[in-house]
Amino acid sequence: MKKKKYIFPGRRIKTELIRNLLDEIPDAIYFKDSKGYLIMVNKAHAEGLGLRPENVIGKTDFDFFPEKEARNMTEDDMKVMQTGESIIDKVERTTRPDGSHHYVSTTKLPRKDQSENIIGIMGITRDITQRSQVEEEKLKITKQAVAALSKAFEMKDKYTSIHALGVAVIAEHITKKLGWPENKVVDIYMAGELHDIGKIAVPMEILSKPAKLNKSEYAIIQEHPQKCFDILSKIKFPSPLSEAVYQHHERLDGSGYPRGLKGNEVIMEARILAVADVLEAMTSHRPYRAALGLDKTLAELKRGAGEIYDRHIVEIAVQLVDEKEELFWRRENDFNL
Ligand SMILES: [Fe+2]
Repeated sequence: MKKKKYIFPGRRIKTELIRNLLDEIPDAIYFKDSKGYLIMVNKAHAEGLGLRPENVIGKTDFDFFPEKEARNMTEDDMKVMQTGESIIDKVERTTRPDGSHHYVSTTKLPRKDQSENIIGIMGITRDITQRSQVEEEKLKITKQAVAALSKAFEMKDKYTSIHALGVAVIAEHITKKLGWPENKVVDIYMAGELHDIGKIAVPMEILSKPAKLNKSEYAIIQEHPQKCFDILSKIKFPSPLSEAVYQHHERLDGSGYPRGLKGNEVIMEARILAVADVLEAMTSHRPYRAALGLDKTLAELKRGAGEIYDRHIVEIAVQLVDEKEELFWRRENDFNL
């Protein structure tokens, strides 16, 4: 039998195939011109808005989403058009015209003409609401497990436990000022809560000794970052939380412990914890000394800024103290100890 010759699909067939693909795909796909007007959308895009594709064409995001969300979307479009760089898998929360909230992952690519001029954007948006709910549930359990660990430690040493919560609050505020995404803010709070958990292995008579520690007692205290790491590395945290805790006594000039890390070897999360730790500890009463006061504490941080502490983080901490109530990390009942 004679072999049939393969015939390449013509333009009409190709267009039909692309149309089929666009309409069968469950992700929202859309094309915008340089002014943000939708010039083509697939079925999933229109259905997500409760409309037919022909009723979406010629509209902008401002016709479908609340102003703040539409503004953010437009800013992203502009960024893609101005830089020519794509935005890949950006997770955002959107509100549909029917009022329902959805988590979506959006990819935006520059749309070019034949001469390679950018003339708009192409976007693909996937609804990840269900996946996000599962992740939120997992995060809730992690937060509860961390709180339980911290509670267990509080039963041994209430002072250190209150200190840890203070560090968590300060570190959380610093990361918010840095503009870090919400998941990283949550992580740094947990790192603060757990940063001294390794002191569970330090005898209480050393932790509560009302005098200066001798050399061997201090050596035992210095083991706590390693112990923290041993405990926390058993949990698969999404960010370098265990490493941040491991490094919280490292200093940029290499004078810290346990590993004497220097400069860039100290990760940003650990630099934040270090500043938060000093701010909380120096302004608090300790079994071996009274609180040193905010002025002395800030002077110490400023003195070490850029040398032993991260300069920018110190600036943010000072700014926070200026803007907020003094000792804003303390809770009412902390004072009753
Ligand atoms: Fe510590």
